[in-house]
Amino acid sequence: MESKIEPQVTEARHLPRIGEPAPPFEAESTFGPIRLEDFRESWLIFFSHPADFTPVCTTEFAAFAGMQDELKEMNVHLMGLSIDSVMAHIAWVRNIEEKFGLKIQFPVIADSDRKVANLYGMIMPGESKTETARCVFVIDPEGILRAVIYYPMTTGRNVEEILRLVKALQTTDEHTVSTPANWQPGNPVIVPPPRTQEMAEERMNEGYDCKDWYFCQKAV
Ligand code: BEZ
Repeated sequence: MESKIEPQVTEARHLPRIGEPAPPFEAESTFGPIRLEDFRESWLIFFSHPADFTPVCTTEFAAFAGMQDELKEMNVHLMGLSIDSVMAHIAWVRNIEEKFGLKIQFPVIADSDRKVANLYGMIMPGESKTETARCVFVIDPEGILRAVIYYPMTTGRNVEEILRLVKALQTTDEHTVSTPANWQPGNPVIVPPPRTQEMAEERMNEGYDCKDWYFCQKAV
C-alpha cells in the first residue's frame, strides 16, 4: 500500500526570503529538542557558525554572550547552529565558560545531517561543502524573517551591528518609521514619504524636520 506520510522537506526550494515566514524546523540542541515555533512571541537571532573549538567562532560566541542580558530586556533570544554534535557543543560552551568566564545561556543546534542548514541556505559550497557559513537570521515574534546577513569563514561578525539591526527593526515596528544609514538608538528616524500629491503638499507643514517633502525626520 502506498504511504500517505508526506516526506519532510529538508531542502529549501529557494533561500529563505525576508518578509516571508521563516521555515519551521525541529532539531536537537544543547537545550534538548527544539523547534523554531518555541520562539513565537519573541524576537530571535538565529545564527550559524562553521565549527566548534575554532578561534573566530569562539570570539563570536563570547561577543554574543556579552550581550545576553541586554537582549533579554529587549525580548530577543539567541540560537546558534553548526554541524557539530551536541556533545561537541557542550564541551565547547563549557570550555568558553572556563577560559573566558562567559556562560552561554542560549541553545546551540547540532545539525549533523544539515537538515536545517539546507533549509536556510547556510552552506556556501565555494567556502566549505560541509560546514555552515557565518549566517544570521533575524526572526520577529510572528515568525517572519526580517533580516539575513552572511559573513565569510574568515571574518568574525560585528555583534553590535546585529544588535543595532534588531533595535532598528523594533523601532520600525513600534513607530511605523524607517531608520537612516548608520542610525543608532536615540537618533532621529525617517517618516514614511507621502504617497499622494495632496499628502506631499501637506508634508512640509506637519511639524517634522524636513529637508524636502520626501525627506522628513522626527525624534521617537
Ligand atoms: C574560526 O572560527 O576560527 C574558523 C572556522 C572555520 C574556518 C576558518 C576559521
